[in-house]
Amino acid sequence: MFYEPENRNHGLPYDPFKALIVPRPIGWISSIGADGSVNLAPYSYFNAVSTVPPIVMFSSDGEKDTSRNVRETGEFCCNFVTSDLLTAMSESSAPLPYGTSEFGATGLTPVPGRLVRAPYAKEAKAVLECRVTEILRPKSHTGRQSPNIVIFGEVVGVHIADEAIRNGLVDTNAIQPMARLGYKEYARIDAAFELERPPGGGDLAKIG
Ligand SMILES: Cc1cc2nc3c(=O)[nH]c(=O)nc-3n(C[C@H](O)[C@H](O)[C@H](O)COP(=O)(O)O)c2cc1C
Repeated sequence: MFYEPENRNHGLPYDPFKALIVPRPIGWISSIGADGSVNLAPYSYFNAVSTVPPIVMFSSDGEKDTSRNVRETGEFCCNFVTSDLLTAMSESSAPLPYGTSEFGATGLTPVPGRLVRAPYAKEAKAVLECRVTEILRPKSHTGRQSPNIVIFGEVVGVHIADEAIRNGLVDTNAIQPMARLGYKEYARIDAAFELERPPGGGDLAKIG
């Protein structure tokens, strides 16, 4: 099949776009507003976009509590979603009124960031503390404004639980990160394997 998103002529019951951009990591973003309102919500339009300096981004489908908070305070934390936290992550996506913390609603423990005011979840096996570097609004090739708000943040602090490290490496199969797929589907990463790169291209010191 072939379709043009502009014409919405895929003929399928649901838009397949997000089901093709998989697996997506989940940025589970915790933030605090100028009035101290604490928030936690998942964003699977999330990824790393720079290594030095380390920068991550997430994209909000219009203005939400998270985008409001990060605009107000310029900081956020990104909590790692592992399989033990899947239910809490999903529950934290409920559209609670501004000022009602998803930490309380999901039973997670907020811990103040070491370098940022935004709290993070004590239960997370890894956390990135971030300072906002840029906020932009994407446009179509004809200049039409997307409703999305893309927030970039420099990672200024990284927490990793001791149990997540084995033999000096992050043990993916042990901590089982969760990925977002299409529709209501998720994938649990518990069968990671190694593949050597061609000679000259696979030095771990370079590729991380
Ligand atoms: C796994 C998952 C991924 C999500 N990814 C996004 C996303 O990338 N962008 C977005 O705007 N909303 C996304 N959502 C929906 C938001 O989490 C939801 O709108 C939430 O209420 C926003 O919370 P906030 O207003 O407290 O920021 C996602 C939800 C789930 C469960």
